[in-house]
Amino acid sequence: MRTLDWVDGAIEMVDQTKLPQVVETLRIETVADLVAAIERLSVRGAPAIGVAGAYGVALAALRHDPGTDRSGFDAAVASIRSARPTAVNLARMVDRVAPIAAADPAAGLAEAHRIRDEELAASIAMGERGADLVEALMVERAAAGDRDGAAVRVMTICNTGGLAAVERGTALAVVQTLHERGRLAEALPIETRPLLQGGRLTTWELQRMGAPHRLLVDSAGPFLLSRGGADVVLIGADRVAANGDTANKIGSFSLALGAADAGVPFVVVAPESTIDPATASGDDIEIEDRGPDEVASVRGVPVAPDGTPACNPAFDITPVRLITALVTDRRTVRFDRGETL
Ligand code: MRU
Repeated sequence: MRTLDWVDGAIEMVDQTKLPQVVETLRIETVADLVAAIERLSVRGAPAIGVAGAYGVALAALRHDPGTDRSGFDAAVASIRSARPTAVNLARMVDRVAPIAAADPAAGLAEAHRIRDEELAASIAMGERGADLVEALMVERAAAGDRDGAAVRVMTICNTGGLAAVERGTALAVVQTLHERGRLAEALPIETRPLLQGGRLTTWELQRMGAPHRLLVDSAGPFLLSRGGADVVLIGADRVAANGDTANKIGSFSLALGAADAGVPFVVVAPESTIDPATASGDDIEIEDRGPDEVASVRGVPVAPDGTPACNPAFDITPVRLITALVTDRRTVRFDRGETL
């Protein structure tokens, strides 16, 4: 299922804020509406917001002809670029399309289509490469006497499926490929408070692919790993720094600590477009703070007294020393074997 695309001069996307109860397609015809959609997470996930940003620049060129209204075009582009700070894909894809669209809007739209197609191909490649790695890791673990059995139990966080990357996704593409190969025993998504991307979106995608799964509360993840409840942890990424430190959904770091303590492989799956060589380490990554309301309520229902102060970092950093490997669309980097980016 393609969850985001350019259709008849506008961006169409599945509204992820409504899932899983309602499957509704949003038609976005203005830059202001796109920025609002990115900010409220109607479209979310690093590759998906990269593609949305690319199409947003094409939209900006339609609304503000760069030949006659260059300042309007530049302001619109800047508003898209800064809609969310942590995932590098958004700024990167906006920067890639903007100069082309400024010179020739039709060429800008063609470049946005190319970005969409690159992400689609990357998802397929990551699925295959990631499934190959997981199978190899299971052979290594069996040889070390750490596990037996052919099928794999995969713990994961947030949503890294087609919703997050137009089609198939990153970590969830690996789960899907394992399932298609008959190698998936079960997926164990954690619910991912505060916005429940694991509980609402990943379960929805797993159900649609017919993959066996059980949903966990966030705090059950590390404990289950300590009891041998999963064979591998697979996560996506919003930005991978040059040294391999990885920004991803808040809760990823706790899973990495739990996995390291239990001797379970912890694998990051992300396209090359999420690697940021300009960011030296995780210390240099800006973490989005989404304010207290999402913490003090669940789906609009208050779960704390009115006015409760709250802290809401949307992402965390997993240091490279806790990451077994990074799988991209082009390579597998075994950090556990001393390989580097
Ligand atoms: O706040 P979100 O839902 O946009 O966060 C998304 C994630 O953290 C994903 O794991 C990441 O973008 C990789 S998606 C393929």
